[in-house]
Formats: sequence, C-alpha cells, structure tokens
Amino acid sequence: MTPNLASFLYLLSSLCFIWALKGLSSPNSARRGNYTGMMGMLIATVTTLYMPNVLSLEWILGGIFIGGSIGTLIAWRLKMTALPQLMAAFHSLVGLAAVCVAASTLENPETFGIGAPHHIPFSNLLEMSVGSAIGAITFTGSVIAFSKLQGILSGKPLSFKGQHFLNAFLGVLLIVLIFLFATTESSSLFWALTGLSFLLGILLILPIGGADMPVVVSMLNSYSGWAACGIGFTLSNPLLIITGALVGASGAILSYIMCKAMNRSILNVILGGFGTSQNEEASLSGPKASHAHVKTGSPEDAAYLLENAQSVIIVPGYGMAVSQAQHALREMVDLLKNKNISIRFAIHPVAGRMPGHMNVLLAEANIPYEDVFELDEINRDFSTTDVAFVIGANDITNPAAKTNPASPIYGMPILDVEKAKTVLFLKRSMAPGYAGVDNELFERENTMMLFGDAKKMVEHIVKNIA
Ligand code: TAP
Repeated sequence: MTPNLASFLYLLSSLCFIWALKGLSSPNSARRGNYTGMMGMLIATVTTLYMPNVLSLEWILGGIFIGGSIGTLIAWRLKMTALPQLMAAFHSLVGLAAVCVAASTLENPETFGIGAPHHIPFSNLLEMSVGSAIGAITFTGSVIAFSKLQGILSGKPLSFKGQHFLNAFLGVLLIVLIFLFATTESSSLFWALTGLSFLLGILLILPIGGADMPVVVSMLNSYSGWAACGIGFTLSNPLLIITGALVGASGAILSYIMCKAMNRSILNVILGGFGTSQNEEASLSGPKASHAHVKTGSPEDAAYLLENAQSVIIVPGYGMAVSQAQHALREMVDLLKNKNISIRFAIHPVAGRMPGHMNVLLAEANIPYEDVFELDEINRDFSTTDVAFVIGANDITNPAAKTNPASPIYGMPILDVEKAKTVLFLKRSMAPGYAGVDNELFERENTMMLFGDAKKMVEHIVKNIA
C-alpha cells in the first residue's frame, strides 16, 4: 500500500470516528453512530495490516484472535450493570499498552524510525516519557477504580493526612524526572518516572469516594485517550494521534458535564479527591438501623393511587436496570395513558451506573423520547404532580444532597420527588443506594414504600390496573 493511500484511508477512518461521536450524542442516532465507529475501526485495522512495515502477519492475527475471543467472551457474559467496571478495566489496558510501547521504543528506536540507542531526539524522548507517565497513571488509577466499583476495595474515600501535599510533591518530581530523562536518555530515569506514575495513579484515585466514581471513570477514559495520543506521536501514527485526541477530548467534555451534574469541581477530581472532608468519611460510616415511621403499601395500593392520579412522573434508577423492569414498566405506562393520565419520565444525569444508562433502557422498551425529560426540564413540575413513581432509584432523590454538608452526595442536584403529592418508592428493602447514605424520604408522611423486586412489583401493579 502506498503511503498516500494509507494516509487517505486513515483520514477516512478518523472521519468515521468523528461521525460516530456525533451519532452517539443522541439515542435516536446512537445505533448509526456505533456502526459508523465499527466501520472506521475496520478501515483502520485493514489499512494497518497492509502497511509495508508489517513484517509478520501471523503474530498480529494471532493477537487479534486471542484478544477478540476474550473480548467476545466478556461481552457475552457481562451484565449491563457491570459496564462501568469493564470500562475501567479496559482503560487500564490502554494505559499499560502506552507504557509497553514507550519502553520498547526506548530499547529499540530503529524499529520505530526515531534514531539509534542513545541518539534519540529530545522531542521523541519527551513524547515517550509523557506517554508512559500518562499511561502508567491511567493503568493503576483504572485498577483502583475497577476494584472500588467491583467491591474489591471499599467505596469510601481512603485518605491520610498530608496526602494532597504528597500528590503535589510527586507531581512536581514527575515533571523534573521527565525533563531529566528527555535530556539524558537514561533508562533508569525512564523506569523511575514510570514507577512514580504508577504510584501517583494509586494515590490519585484512592481518596475519591464512591459518589464521585462516575466522574473518575470518564476522567480515566479521557486519560487513556491522551495516553493513546502520546503513543501516536511516538510511533508517528496520525490515526492514533487523532483518535487518541478524540477519546481524550470527549472524555474530558463528559467529565466536565458529569462534574456539573454532580456539582463537583473538575480540578478537585483531577487532583485526586481534593476537598474530601473528614466529615464526609464519617458520614459514610453506615446506614442507621431503625426505621420506625415507614409506611408500606401493596401493588393494589399502588395501582389505586396511579389510576386515580392525573399526572405521574416516573423516576428510574439503578434498581430498574438490575431487575430489567423497563418492559413491564412500558406495559404499565400504556395502561395508564389509555386512562388519560399524564405520564412523564425524569432522568437524573447520574442515574444508574453509567452516563445515559436509563435512556438506553427506556429506548429498549420503546418509551417515546418525547416522554423523557432531563432533570433541569422537569424538576419544577414535581410540586404539581400527583404521584412520583420512583423505581429502583435512591441517591438521586436524597434530600441529604441539599441539607447535609457532611454527606458524600452534598451539592449534587437531586430530583425533587418529595414535592409530589405522593411518592411511591419501589425497592427491595430499606438499604441505601450507591453512596451508602440513608434516605430520609422513606419515612416522610407522603411516602409509601413498595418493597419487592422492581420487575415483579410492576407486573403485579399491571395486573391490578383495571
Ligand atoms: P442507587 O442510589 O444506587 O439506588 C438504587 C436502589 O435500587 C438501591 O437503593 C436498591 O435498594 C434498589 N434496587 C437494587 N436492585 C433492585 C431490584 N432488583 N428491584 C428493586 N430495587 C432494586 O441508584 P440511583 O438512584 O440510580 O443513583 C445512582 C448512584 O450511582 C449515584 O450515587 C451515582 O453517583 C452512582 N453512580 C452513577 C454512575 C453513573 S455515570 N450513572 C456511575 C457509578 C456510580 P434495595 O437494595 O433496597 O432494593
């Protein structure tokens, strides 16, 4: 393949990735976006395989076969609710790949066309060390994020006195080491800066509490993109530079959007839980045991309340995803709509366990997009609504986010379900949500708890709607 044709095909696949991102920005066009992205990846892979500097196809195809089989197996077995962990695990691999490419380039610069050992240009050494540092931070940071999301490590912020000063000191030390390495090409300095970055990745993510994990995952997504971009510079591969930058920039934009949704400062998250107070840690000590004033109801009660309402707002959360209740919910909504009851859905930006989690599930059940509203669009309507039907959601409705400065979710905007005439909470128990904090709404006068699995409970409600 001629270099011109390869450049043209790389440009084409980059355009496919840009179209893919555009498609993924709306549920209506997300499927098309995915297909466009796959097409871009196919063009990129085939073009690379036909490059003249590919000497042994057997090794590459063997790697694609093994990696592809593992990926297929994981995708088949994975539950939708475990996607954030999977994303964190995959980001860790991108980070590790960046470290491996940088190390092999240093050992064998001729293969990559950047001079001979001990005669690598300053700019290449700089790219290599920055790529390796970002990759190493991404690797260990993602492993910690994975362990927290998977429950291997506690979701509580793990911090110690002076941690932020230590992080700042190590950050400055890293910059000095990168500069020294780029001027001396010493391989021991390379491994020192890479080792330090591995440590920094751990220290940056450990102090971040469970409630901020969504932002961390998208932040690591961004880091993994910049790491790939760094590899692109090292390998002089324009496609890797463009796609790495696309992933890096879109991950950064997503992190910014999530920070805004959670009312968090993006700088705090980048600097590793800066601002996590001791109070916050104390408030995570566990839910309280007694719940004396809880009013429970049956599916019959719920059906009666819903049938006699004029307006209902449904608030889906993680529990709906766990029980896969969206199809039963659709049936319930259709029955209520036939009775001329106004039904709308309110989506919190961090409902569930990944951005857009609820939108995907509702789209899967063919809930019309025009019935689905973002927090800003619908929040003020709760006060004029008869029933707020909260299905498998908890943290995103918890008023502690507004009233308790010691709470880990303090500052996060919530859906004001408490303002509705009646609030129905559909969940299995009094257990807290992801952030591990009690929700005082369960004991409010206008709340009725419907205990049970979301799907089964909705099916029972459907049977009771005349
Ligand atoms: P949560 O606060 O986690 O509450 C979900 C509730 O669903 C739980 O209290 C649980 O109570 C209930 N539940 C679980 N399985 C159920 C089932 N089969 N049937 C009925 N109920 C069930 O969820 P949320 O309100 O959606 O809030 C999201 C939380 O996750 C936030 O804290 C957010 O920061 C965090 N987070 C979000 C993301 C993104 S990007 N969306 C990523 C990571 C973390 P029971 O056990 O009593 O049933």
